[in-house]
Amino acid sequence: MPVPLLDLRAQHATIRDEVVAAMMEVVDSQLFILGGAVEKLEQQVAEISHTRYAIGCASGTDALLLALRALDIGRGDEVITTPFTFFATAGTIHNVGATPVFVDIEPQTFNIAPDAIAAAITPRTKAVIPVDLFGQMAPMEKVAAVAKDIPVIEDAAQSIGARRKIDGTWRMAGEAAGMGTLSFFPSKNLGGYGDGGMIVTQDQALATRLRRLRVHGGAKQYFHDEVGYNSRLDALQAAVLSAKLPHLAAWSAKRRENAKYYSEALTGIEGVCTPVIDPKNESIFNQYTIRAERRDDLQAYLKSRDIGTAIYYPLPLHLQPCFAYLGYREGACPESERASQQVLSLPIFPELNRDQLDEVVDAIRSFYER
Ligand SMILES: Cc1ncc(COP(=O)(O)O)c(C=O)c1O
Repeated sequence: MPVPLLDLRAQHATIRDEVVAAMMEVVDSQLFILGGAVEKLEQQVAEISHTRYAIGCASGTDALLLALRALDIGRGDEVITTPFTFFATAGTIHNVGATPVFVDIEPQTFNIAPDAIAAAITPRTKAVIPVDLFGQMAPMEKVAAVAKDIPVIEDAAQSIGARRKIDGTWRMAGEAAGMGTLSFFPSKNLGGYGDGGMIVTQDQALATRLRRLRVHGGAKQYFHDEVGYNSRLDALQAAVLSAKLPHLAAWSAKRRENAKYYSEALTGIEGVCTPVIDPKNESIFNQYTIRAERRDDLQAYLKSRDIGTAIYYPLPLHLQPCFAYLGYREGACPESERASQQVLSLPIFPELNRDQLDEVVDAIRSFYER
């Protein structure tokens, strides 16, 4: 039985009428750039993120870029982040002219290690970017404690709706940082029908600056206070996302259910380590990522049985050729390097049925026990 890594058509089939109606409203209005559809989604996302402001933009990558620019980060500045993340987290630091400083992860959660941040802070450090990897929030209160006055941008691209109990209160992804950045890339838990992104913040001055930066740096049309970008969230995407948003909590709950099923079924298979969720966290399981012995052989075997998997991420960013100029060597971030050799993400999307979950478990068991 084939089990794809992700089946977006299965999800679309369940919401087609709502989404198409929302898109047609925008089409009939002929208002495609910013406007009511984008404002509506911004309000909805601010609400679920427990933030005062949300600013739509063209992608999760641009959300990071705009956030860095809103903090005036550029040449000569350093930004501390994790090398075990999607490229955009560090690519945007480079693209504003600053220097990415990579520090290692905690092996259990794959998220940035607060002690490592503390050790990397210099007078040039202008921001810290923890990433909420695979749908599980980084330890934001510990990051804040070591960052002190240094601004924190939470890359929450993979974790909209995730939460963490901090001092007895649930905090949403993006809520506890100066700014949180979101992605609506189609494979995310809240995915658009194209690219999209958003920044959430409690800070009015940052919100105003971000709104200006996304329209070429001009608060008033054709008058430019600074050089910004064309980075608006498409109104059609906003309409799709607003139609999908009421389903997000149930979809993420279903992913958690699938994760629980896998973790129970895979426990005890020698060679497999199931994901560890910090007891303070509620993950949205954008990915269900195991550590596997003989990982590449397992992946090939699963492929031979028509089971889709992915390796996020095969080469940590400090070892990427484009960052050779930074001078990192193998061994600089050993946990990230080990993780890239061992991780394998399994199908976890909400529409998976029990037979498909069993097929994946059975295949993994056969691989290790044959
Ligand atoms: C951790 C992380 N940061 C940033 C991004 C960039 O988002 P986008 O693809 O919307 O530009 C992504 C997703 O693709 C991501 O997973």
